[in-house]
Amino acid sequence: MVKPWFTLILSSMLLIAMSLVHGIDQDPLAVEEWFKNLPTMTQKQTHLHFYLHDLVSGTSPTAMRVAQSTITSTSPTAFGFLAMADDKLTTGPEPNSTVVGRAQGIYGSACLEESGLLMTMNLVFTGGDYNGSTLSLLGRNAVFHPYREMPIVGGSGVFRMARGVATAKTHDFNLTSGDAVVEYNVMVVHY
Ligand SMILES: *[C@@H]1O[C@H](CO)[C@@H](O)[C@H](O)[C@H]1NC(C)=O
Ligand SMILES: *[C@@H]1O[C@H](CO)[C@@H](O)[C@H](O)[C@H]1NC(C)=O
Ligand SMILES: *[C@@H]1O[C@H](CO)[C@@H](O)[C@H](O)[C@H]1NC(C)=O
Repeated sequence: MVKPWFTLILSSMLLIAMSLVHGIDQDPLAVEEWFKNLPTMTQKQTHLHFYLHDLVSGTSPTAMRVAQSTITSTSPTAFGFLAMADDKLTTGPEPNSTVVGRAQGIYGSACLEESGLLMTMNLVFTGGDYNGSTLSLLGRNAVFHPYREMPIVGGSGVFRMARGVATAKTHDFNLTSGDAVVEYNVMVVHY
């Protein structure tokens, strides 16, 4: 006869295994099953640290302007410009540092008074435990402030139902080219 404690250990191991495998998108039934288990799941906190490389110049830019307003060229804050980005996320600030994901999305100048961007980005992770999982960032990025705090409004994969805060700090900004390397710390709660 199987001891109850053994069944308990086995079922918790299964639960852990189940929560680990959802790194890639699952079918609706699997998602429904996950939601059913939600009340028994414990909340986790995860801290992510990486560098975002926003390259707007050179031969292989990763962010480019896709639209602008009639006043963008004369506005001190380039108000109304929109850019589409697929920026590299790496472990270190160097250009050849290990890639752990991409920041894919749209950012644009949404402030007339100072440089303030509206950021709508999906952080798409490709490294290790987070491979195939995403976090969605939506916030205001006043690029010349030392720290910019932006909400994480959701996620997928291991980051389902995530909420959190991203803090951006400019590591390097080339005023001539417009290229930037930005340090990100992301704190999220998820299941
Ligand atoms: C990255 O490039 C620097 C020189 O620019 C070199 O010293 C270093 O070894 C390189 N690192 C990797 C991981 O390739
Ligand atoms: C990430 O997942 C993709 C597809 O599932 C796979 O091809 C790739 O090798 C994985 N990368 C890492 C670093 O595990
Ligand atoms: C800044 O960008 C300009 C133009 O692309 C380039 O010539 C220069 O070397 C860059 N400066 C640094 C410090 O990387």
